[in-house]
Amino acid sequence: MDKIRVVGGVSLAGRVEISGAKNAALPAMAASLLTADTLHLENLPYVRDILTTCNLLRNIGIEAEVGEDGIGVFKASDVNSLQAPYELVKTMRASILVLGPLLARFRKATVSLPGGCAIGARPINLHLMGLERMGAQCDIVHGYVEASTSGLHGSYIMMDTVTVTGTENLMMAATLAEGETVLDNAACEPEIGDLAALLRGMGAQIEGDGTRTIRIHGVKKLHGCRHRIIPDRIEAGTFAIASAITRGDVEVANCNPRHLTAVLTQLSQIGAEISIGTDSFHVRGRDPISSKNVTTYPYPAFPTDMQAQYMALMTQGDGSALIAETIFENRFMHALELIRMGADITVEGRQALVKGGRPLSGARVLASDLRASASLILAGLVAKGETVVDRVYHLDRGYHHIEEKLARLGANIERIR
Ligand code: EPU
Repeated sequence: MDKIRVVGGVSLAGRVEISGAKNAALPAMAASLLTADTLHLENLPYVRDILTTCNLLRNIGIEAEVGEDGIGVFKASDVNSLQAPYELVKTMRASILVLGPLLARFRKATVSLPGGCAIGARPINLHLMGLERMGAQCDIVHGYVEASTSGLHGSYIMMDTVTVTGTENLMMAATLAEGETVLDNAACEPEIGDLAALLRGMGAQIEGDGTRTIRIHGVKKLHGCRHRIIPDRIEAGTFAIASAITRGDVEVANCNPRHLTAVLTQLSQIGAEISIGTDSFHVRGRDPISSKNVTTYPYPAFPTDMQAQYMALMTQGDGSALIAETIFENRFMHALELIRMGADITVEGRQALVKGGRPLSGARVLASDLRASASLILAGLVAKGETVVDRVYHLDRGYHHIEEKLARLGANIERIR
């Protein structure tokens, strides 16, 4: 199994190009199930979750190809299986995104229940509740969701918790339902807006994406189109923190700074110097790093997917910072590994108190999930000596060659095979 070895102490400098957003690409690929025509996607990140989704789609009978150049071609004209098997779903929860499109176009789908994961229980009750309101019957049989319908119809659906993939699943299902669907308390993440733009390009009628109320007027048929995936705001935010924590000077290019307002505001509050361009921003890390509290919330607030990286940064703060996680109930696994590197962190329920000013020392650490892996690499960049991050398959799910990108900024980092 691969590991990442990093030796701390270098201030990063230079320019890094951000890849396409994994969490926008996954629903976009699932949307290819909604039409028999060809869907061309550009700017797909060449990461493991994308390749897993490709396998999942091929398993269903779709022609699916993704190249290292980020170009993907999908054609769902000969779908021969309406199933997403456990073997694929267990490695990637976002597989549940095929449920809505399969049901809408083929009126039947069998998708393995994802089960829990390292960051929390992650139920899908809201996906199922919404589909049932649209006229589907969903039963759980032998660990699978067996869903069927005689035809989906529009409905008013109020989600009591903001769910990103839940909103995406229901939005896709509603595009081919008869009549109007209103999704209330919908997610506003930029990935939702990107999916809505893709679906509109395919002929869907959607308004209100980017707000808490999305209206979808069902159409009879969707067609193929060409769509470019938005840049990955979490990858961009991770490099922003890499610059801040190493007191570096990094230009983060090919991204949308407007998708990172909460993160960049937080970084300017801790003392980093931020300048923002149209499709790039610049972060200059400054001493001291001021300790500031943060609480994760749905977009546009500070994202849970940046919480682990921010915790690494706060270990270098000049005081104490309280980090509160409101989205997932178990997303502090990285704290235990950061403590092994010398950090002073006390976790109580969904809050972590990080006392800064402790020098970190390199250690062998284990990644527990995707963003935890990034956090440990960030800590390794400022730790004294060598840090070896194990289980980097988590990292490879969502970051395209992060070690190569960091090395180009001057980091002393390599992958050990
Ligand atoms: N929830 C329910 N019922 C549901 C669905 C969700 O109670 O039916 C709860 C969850 O348990 C959680 C909250 O709602 O407490 C939010 O979960 P959400 O459904 O929004 O998460 P997700 O859609 O499964 C996506 C991203 C995650 C990101 C979260 C939150 C994708 C493929 N995944 O997950 O990304 O953390 O939204 O922003 O878009 C990552 O990239 O590292 C990652 C984990």
